[in-house]
Amino acid sequence: MLYDLAKPFIFTLEAERAHGLTIAGLKAVPMGPAPKSDPILRSTVAGLDFVNPIGMAPGFDKNGEVPDALIRMGFGYAEVGTLTPLPQAGNPKPRIFRLVKDRAVINRLGFNNGGQDDAMPRLERIKRRMGHGMLGINIGANKDSKDRIADYVIGAKNMSPLADYLTVNISSPNTPGLRALQDKAALQQLLAAVMEARGAHHIPVFLKVAPDLQPSDIDDIVEVAMDQKIDALIVSNTTISRPDLLSANREESGGLSGAPLKNLALERLRDFRKASGGTIALIGVGGIETADDAFERICAGASLIQLYTAMIYRGPTMARKMACGLAEILKREGFTSVSEAVGSSTDK
Ligand SMILES: Cc1cc2nc3c(=O)[nH]c(=O)nc-3n(C[C@H](O)[C@H](O)[C@H](O)COP(=O)(O)O)c2cc1C
Repeated sequence: MLYDLAKPFIFTLEAERAHGLTIAGLKAVPMGPAPKSDPILRSTVAGLDFVNPIGMAPGFDKNGEVPDALIRMGFGYAEVGTLTPLPQAGNPKPRIFRLVKDRAVINRLGFNNGGQDDAMPRLERIKRRMGHGMLGINIGANKDSKDRIADYVIGAKNMSPLADYLTVNISSPNTPGLRALQDKAALQQLLAAVMEARGAHHIPVFLKVAPDLQPSDIDDIVEVAMDQKIDALIVSNTTISRPDLLSANREESGGLSGAPLKNLALERLRDFRKASGGTIALIGVGGIETADDAFERICAGASLIQLYTAMIYRGPTMARKMACGLAEILKREGFTSVSEAVGSSTDK
């Protein structure tokens, strides 16, 4: 309600400035305790206990400044990043575009972030305040890195002692050549190196993939992920494709997120479920706006879900509302837990 009143003003601000003010506001405003989630939403994935399966997707909190505030807003977990070993400025501005009529965003940020050395002491402090909320840290490679795999190894070494899980992000469309790491041989080498780099901290490792993949790519990724004992696949990042869009900014280059990504991300999730036969946990992301969307993604095979763009259009209470709505739907449909519903609409 309040957000609906404030939205016209917020949307007059340039998108990246509005985002900066949101992060500053979350840091400044003291928030109450995290809302209690309905016990039906409790989920154990990769050995981690989530109070609810709704997570904030990476990109919102690139530098790991407010994961505790996100938990207090009702998210069951927050994935921060993408954090690269060295700080980097990213692409020239403007580089985030709202597509209001489409309830979508195009971004070509290019991993702008303050670097891992800056984030580590802060995350160590904030983690202690996160209570039951899970912290995921999403790692990437610097644009000018001579050895990108070495960057992921640095990220895994740095972040394993701090995070509940690590995400290897090789699917951003805004770092040239990054998605080539999804190719079979490169992926095998990358994941083996990351798994080893965790050292004694055997925290779960998730792999985030693009939605713009061919069936043979999907089979290869599943094979390598299973071979390397990756704990979950996150499906998906933004798309470089352009479904029919209505808004003025549709010509901008970059990754598209929000409502127009929904069908593609859902289709890819089903593809990954089919290719893996349910043997690897999946996390559904892309165009999730409502509790019904979350439920649909769970029934298609997702053990957890994430969202970002919908919060831009629906405001800060949406995680809380989605959690309540999802609990109601699960009960109405006769499920006693999230895990019971996972994959229930697919033929295994
Ligand atoms: C402005 C913006 C920045 C993003 N930055 C990252 C990022 O740094 N790392 C990453 O893995 N995904 C990033 N994403 C992708 C999201 O995490 C998510 O996969 C995608 O937006 C689809 O979900 P949505 O439709 O709910 O937004 C970003 C998305 C947006 C809109």
